Amino acid sequence: MDKLVIRGPSVISGQIPISGSKNAALPILMGCLLAETPVTLSNVPHLRDVTTSLQLLATMGCDVLMDERLNITLDCSAIHSKEAPYDLVKTMRASILVMGPLLSRFGEAKVALPGGCAIGSRPVDIHIEGMREMGAIIDIDEGFIIAKAPQGLRGAEITMPIVTVTGTENLIMAAVLAKGRTILRKAACEPEVVDLADFLNAMGARIRGAGTSVIEIDGVSALKGVDYRVIPDRIEAGTYLAAAAVTQGCVTVTDVDPTHLEAVLEKFKQAGALVTSTENTITLDMRGRSLSAVDIETQPYPLFPTDMQAQFLVMNAIAEGTGRVKETIFENRYMHVAELEKMGARITLDGNEALTIGQNQLHGAEVVATDLRASACLIIAALVAQGTTVVNRIYHIDRGYERIEEKFHRLGVDIQRLSS
Ligand code: EPU
Repeated sequence: MDKLVIRGPSVISGQIPISGSKNAALPILMGCLLAETPVTLSNVPHLRDVTTSLQLLATMGCDVLMDERLNITLDCSAIHSKEAPYDLVKTMRASILVMGPLLSRFGEAKVALPGGCAIGSRPVDIHIEGMREMGAIIDIDEGFIIAKAPQGLRGAEITMPIVTVTGTENLIMAAVLAKGRTILRKAACEPEVVDLADFLNAMGARIRGAGTSVIEIDGVSALKGVDYRVIPDRIEAGTYLAAAAVTQGCVTVTDVDPTHLEAVLEKFKQAGALVTSTENTITLDMRGRSLSAVDIETQPYPLFPTDMQAQFLVMNAIAEGTGRVKETIFENRYMHVAELEKMGARITLDGNEALTIGQNQLHGAEVVATDLRASACLIIAALVAQGTTVVNRIYHIDRGYERIEEKFHRLGVDIQRLSS
């Protein structure tokens, strides 16, 4: 299993291009199942979750072609299987996103039930309930969700009990070919939801209100393929900015949309960073400035994202003062705390809150990555640690960060991947 060896401390500086968004690309890839003619996608990040998605679509009969510029053409005109097997679903929960498109276009779907994962139990009841409200008959049998809508889905008014990103995306995809109008209330407003809606609208769907909490979808009879460019990854961008903040460095992330990161940039400023943006770049300059601990509470977009919680926890761990981080989205997203403590961080967990007492320095240690964002936070911690840090089980990081060691190396970090 691959590991990363990082020798610190480092002061990072330079410019880094940000890849396409993983969490936008995954639903868009699954959304290709809705198209009767080929779709070509650009700015799709080269990640393990993307490879898993392509594998999943290929098992269903989708023809996948990648050109030399990594543009991907997907032809879903001859889908022969409507099943997402457990082997693929267990490695990537986002596989559940095939359910809406399959049910909408073919009136049937069989998807292995995703189990719990490192960050919590993560049920999919809201996806299932929403599709039932649209007329689907859904049974759970031997670990599979078996959904049928022989007469097709019909529009419905659905109020989701809590804000769910993939739940909103799955229901949008279920509704685009349903008969009549669907209204989704308490919808997720994340930029990735907006990107999916823009993509589907480009293919001929009629979706209004994406980016607000009420989304209206008028069903259409068919969608046709388009060329579409995926939005930049706001969390990847935020992660490199956090790395600049902890090392008192200066980093410019390019090919980004700063409007997607407003709550995060506000917190960086509150922590003492000088943050400047252009239309598609963000620079965080921490040179000669001192980092102060900040209080954060994770909430659905446009508030502070849970996917940046771990990175800010590391910032607090070496900042001046005490900080309070409250995780409200996932019940178990603090697996990185024990690993950070091995590196000298002082963190007390109290329910869903993590209280830090900032230290001047961390020290290198052998640590284990437990989930994607936890892995990122351990690498950030290693940048400020004195000595060598070995981050084990980095397959998590390959799910979500494109060429991470190459990018950090470019910023001046002594980082090496060891394969075993
Ligand atoms: N939830 C339910 N029932 C459901 C669906 C969700 O109870 O049917 C709960 C979840 O257990 C959680 C909360 O609702 O407590 C919110 O979860 P959500 O459904 O929004 O999360 P998700 O859609 O499974 C996506 C991202 C995550 C990101 C969250 C929150 C993708 C592929 N994943 O997950 O990304 O943390 O939204 O913003 O888009 C990551 O990239 O590292 C990652 C975990």
